[in-house]
This record gives sequence, C-alpha cells and structure tokens, in this order.
Amino acid sequence: MPRIKKQTFQAPKGMRDILPEEQVYWDKFFRVAHHLAEDYGWQKIETPVVEQAELFARGTGQTTEIVTKQMYTLRTSGGDRLALRPEGTPGVMRAYLENGLANMPQPVKLYYFGPMFRYEQPQAGRWREFFHFGVETVGEAAPVLDVQIIQFCFHLFRSLGLKKINVQVNSIGCQQCRSPYRRALVDYYRYRKNKICPDCQKRLKENPLRLLDCKEEKCQPVKAQAPAVIDYLCEECHRHFKEVLEFLDELEIPYFLNSALVRGLDYYTKTIFEFFMEDEAGALQMVLGGGGRYDNLLKEMGGKPTPAVGMALGVDRIILAMRKEQVRVAPAYNPKVFLVQLGDMGKRKSLKLFETLHQAGVIAAESFSRDSIKAQLKIADRLGVKFSLILGQQEALDETVIIRDMQSGVQETVPQLKVIDEIKKRLAKK
Ligand code: HAM
Repeated sequence: MPRIKKQTFQAPKGMRDILPEEQVYWDKFFRVAHHLAEDYGWQKIETPVVEQAELFARGTGQTTEIVTKQMYTLRTSGGDRLALRPEGTPGVMRAYLENGLANMPQPVKLYYFGPMFRYEQPQAGRWREFFHFGVETVGEAAPVLDVQIIQFCFHLFRSLGLKKINVQVNSIGCQQCRSPYRRALVDYYRYRKNKICPDCQKRLKENPLRLLDCKEEKCQPVKAQAPAVIDYLCEECHRHFKEVLEFLDELEIPYFLNSALVRGLDYYTKTIFEFFMEDEAGALQMVLGGGGRYDNLLKEMGGKPTPAVGMALGVDRIILAMRKEQVRVAPAYNPKVFLVQLGDMGKRKSLKLFETLHQAGVIAAESFSRDSIKAQLKIADRLGVKFSLILGQQEALDETVIIRDMQSGVQETVPQLKVIDEIKKRLAKK
C-alpha cells in the first residue's frame, strides 16, 4: 500500500484563531459597543463579506494602496470578479442605495461589525483578516454629526477602560479647495522629485494627494515640509471645520489639530480624524480607528449627491490595548453549582436536571464523561462552586438529590422537585 504522507495545516498567513481565553475581551467589546451605538441611534446592518471588486475601485479609490496592493480578488465560475471586502463603507453605501434607504427620514444611521481582508505584510497589530466596528451617518451635512461620531468613540474607549487615547483631527476640504491645493502640492513635489521613492513619483503623476500617506523613510523629510491642505480651505469648509472644533471644545474632548493628518482612502472630504493609543510617555503607538466625512461617495457610486460621515475601529487592536491595559472583564463562564452524577440512571437524570437548572437560571458545571465521584468533586473544587448536586443510583430511584456545601462538606438530601428552590435559596444566602 502506498504510504500516505501526513499533512499538517496552519491558518493562512496573517490570519489567526481567536481562542476561548481571548473571547472574554471580544464579548466585552461587543456588549459595550453595540449598546452604546444603539443608544446613540445607530442601527445594525450586515452586508456580504464579498462584493464586486469594482465597488472598492470606485468607492475606496482606484489608486489607493488598499485597492492596488491589498485586495483579495477572485473570479467566480460564473465569471464575476469579486473581492473580499477590505473595508465596510462602500458595501454599506451600496446597501443604502440598493435598498432605497435614501427614501427614509435622514440621516440614516447604521453600524456594522465584521471581518475585513487586506493583503498586508503581517506584524504586531496588523493582520490580513481583522475586524471592524464601524458607524456611518448618511444624508446630512451638519458638522455636529462629525462630532457625534468622535464623541461616540471617545465615550466607547472610556467605557472599555482605555484611557490613554489621543484624538487627532484635520480637514482636507472639498473638491473646490482641493484643486488649488493639488497645484501647490504638485509644484512643491516637482522640485523634489529626486528625493522621493518610485511609488511617490508615480503618485505625483496619478494622484498627488496620495503623496501624503507615503510611509517610506526616504520621503518623510519632503512630506514634513509639504503645504498643508488646511491652509487652502474654501469658506464653507473653513466654517464647517471651525464648528467641528467648537463642538469638540464644548464637549471637552481633548484633541490635537494635526494638519499633516491624511487618510489612506480616496473618498474623504472636510473633517477627518484618527484615534491613537498612547504609551506611558505619551508617545503615539497604534492607530485604533479613524474616519471622516465623505460627501461625494454616494454620487460617485451612482446615487444622488448625499453627504455622509463615518468611522471604523480596528477591533483586534482595541482588544490588544484592553489586554495591555489589563481592563477588567467578567469571566465568560461562571458556574455556581456542580452536577455530580454516578451510575447509568444517575447520569440520565442528571442530563435532564442540567437543563432544568439552566431554565431556572442556575448555571451548573458538569463532567458527564467522568464516573468517579472523587474526580468530579475535585473539578467542582477547582471551579470554586459553592454547592455540588449529587445524583447517584439511589437518588435517581428515590427522586432526590444530595446538596453538598463545598466549604463545610455538609450534605443534605432534598426531593428533586424542590432542588431548584433549595439551591436558589442557598445561593442567595452565600
Ligand atoms: P481605516 O483607517 O482603513 O478606515 O481602518 C480603520 C481601522 O482599522 C484602522 O484605524 C486600524 O485600527 C484598523 N486596521 C486597518 N488595517 C488593519 C490591519 N491590517 N490589521 C488590523 N487592524 C487594521 C476604514 O476602513 C474606513 N472604512 C473608516 C470609515 C468609515 N470612514 C468612514 N466611514
């Protein structure tokens, strides 16, 4: 017989398993974020994990790194070219247009959570599959809505126990202020062409605004001296940004006005912002999330001109931050009693009793695959439960259960019909 080679498998590069031990942090994040988003008036939406690849080229931007270098694309056997979503906003906007949400009272406020995929070089805090929690407020241009999103994020970070958060804001204006700015930027870079990387030389020709998100070491000194878009804002963008800053002051949200802040996606107009985690010394570490206004995207996607603003948080990074800050999380599994069973009949009755206890709201631990009473009581001890319920052959016949106080070792036999009341009474006293 030919020898079959044993094959082992690993998760794809940059993707990982989230094991039960880490789930308590994820659970806390969802609980807090979902409730808070609902309290602020955002409603949940789910969109497919794959969309037509063209949606991202049009939405996220044809010349962005996300689309040119990081998108996972595939061709179906039917010939469609799809992409694993690298971000949520274009899909949510497609859903807004496709489902006629433009006909609902505006603004339409939506939030979402789910995996995103970017083919990046994995490193600490950067994965190829990662999770976004995002909100989008669609259909209104008022600056107060930009601020509400920043306020929500700030509130959320605080509720999660993350205190060292640095908020950076900027305005990148609208198309009207962008043309004189683009000219100034091109003029500036044209004379420094030999000091920038090949990618930036390409950006200079194709999409000069992208020059500002180059991460190459070589380009940083040139970038640092480049003209800032904030100096080129038109009257309307200037007024909008001024109001945003006034609202932030009113809310006493500490922010940094960073005129060098840019975002790696094409659709932004006016306000943009990012949330950073600071270290002990106040130095910026990871970006935990970001967003901004995108008043032209819906029109670009074939809809009527519709202003919108939103953000997405990198949940994996927030979980890293929560662990680093050692925020308190409730254990996911916190049984109050342990069900010990002996013999065939005891086991059968225990399965039923487990369900009855659960229905009555009493979480019981068990080890149904074990037969020895000693081994089972040892587990009960380790779990730190207050009581064990022992159901053996005799108890099964008599329709009784033994309640054992784990601290004192005192045991008492009670009728099965009364065990829920008894155990609840005792647990309430402990
Ligand atoms: P983004 O800045 O590309 O924005 O992503 C938001 C956050 O996702 C980042 O700040 C970062 O925390 C996290 N993130 C990005 N890439 C990775 C990665 N490879 N591994 C782990 N975390 C990552 C957006 O995607 C926009 N859709 C936000 C938005 C919504 N703007 C308006 N509405």
